[in-house]
Amino acid sequence: MHNERYIPSNNGGEPVGLAFGKAILLGEHAVVLGAPALVVGLPDCMTARDGGPAETLSVSVEPWGLSIEADAKEDLGSRALSALDDALGEAGVPRTSRDRRVLVSAGVPPRAGLGSSAALAISVGRLVARLAGREDLLAPKKSAELVKGSETVFHGRPSGVDAAAAATGGVGAFARSLGLTPVEHPSTIHLLIASSGERPPAREMVQHVSRLAERTTAARRQLSQLGDLAIAGASLLIRSNLRGLGEAMNEAHSLLSKLGVSTKELDLLVEECRLGGAFGAKLTGAGGGGCVVALCPPDKAETMLCRLQKTASWARHFVIEGGGEVPGGSARRGRGSREDD
Ligand code: PMV
Repeated sequence: MHNERYIPSNNGGEPVGLAFGKAILLGEHAVVLGAPALVVGLPDCMTARDGGPAETLSVSVEPWGLSIEADAKEDLGSRALSALDDALGEAGVPRTSRDRRVLVSAGVPPRAGLGSSAALAISVGRLVARLAGREDLLAPKKSAELVKGSETVFHGRPSGVDAAAAATGGVGAFARSLGLTPVEHPSTIHLLIASSGERPPAREMVQHVSRLAERTTAARRQLSQLGDLAIAGASLLIRSNLRGLGEAMNEAHSLLSKLGVSTKELDLLVEECRLGGAFGAKLTGAGGGGCVVALCPPDKAETMLCRLQKTASWARHFVIEGGGEVPGGSARRGRGSREDD
């Protein structure tokens, strides 16, 4: 994982708070029950800047048209911000550093299964920590801990995968019991992420799947297969077998469909990515709307993006740099896939 990237250089002396978006490549829903998930922290997703002193901690996210103030009695966003403010206070950040107006630029849409709430809270928490001279709170584990309360406001009992990915970046395997373990991948990976425009009712989707798992052995088997695919996917990625990883993603999408969390729109986007030449594509996150993620050959990514931009409500191409050794092969840095070149 690219840990060095969470502490940005202070360009022109201006302090900023950074966070990553999140895309689950494999293992959503299974991760809630303790299985591992293969997750990517999406770069350049959330940047928080100081807008000066305010009466209370307040946040504006310009591209979302969102403006909230920390208030424990108001809407979800204000309650989540109030929980973050409390956590910063408990960590010893003085009120003078917390009562700020924070301006955030976001590179992912809100409530689309890309971990935007965790990323927003982490970027704001990091900015406030910087303003207070508390660099110790910028470390991924500390930042992720600070947003536990705000994530609970939004998600009930989240697995914690969003906060871990938002704080750390890179590719990792996440399990409730172990947290996030970096997955070193020699090949640079190209992801296309596209939103159907439907707002996913994430909490209801998680409840739906857990009820189904209580009632039917088929659902329990499907969830266990999703967890197995995440483990297999990590090892395929380590070996630079992107074609194999794509196939695992296709399989995961059909299991998620059987669990009833896909939609017609998500299926159409997945189909479009596959027809465009993706190694594999699936819904990502809780489902019931939100986004699909496609793993693409580098030379097809931009053409696919242009096509998706016509059909999806939002689409973006993410490049996740690889590096290091292909096990049993020669050292490769940031190039295409070993088996798929
Ligand atoms: O849709 P999102 O970004 O909230 O992702 C949810 C992922 C789940 O595995 C379905 C739930 C969780 O808490 O891990």
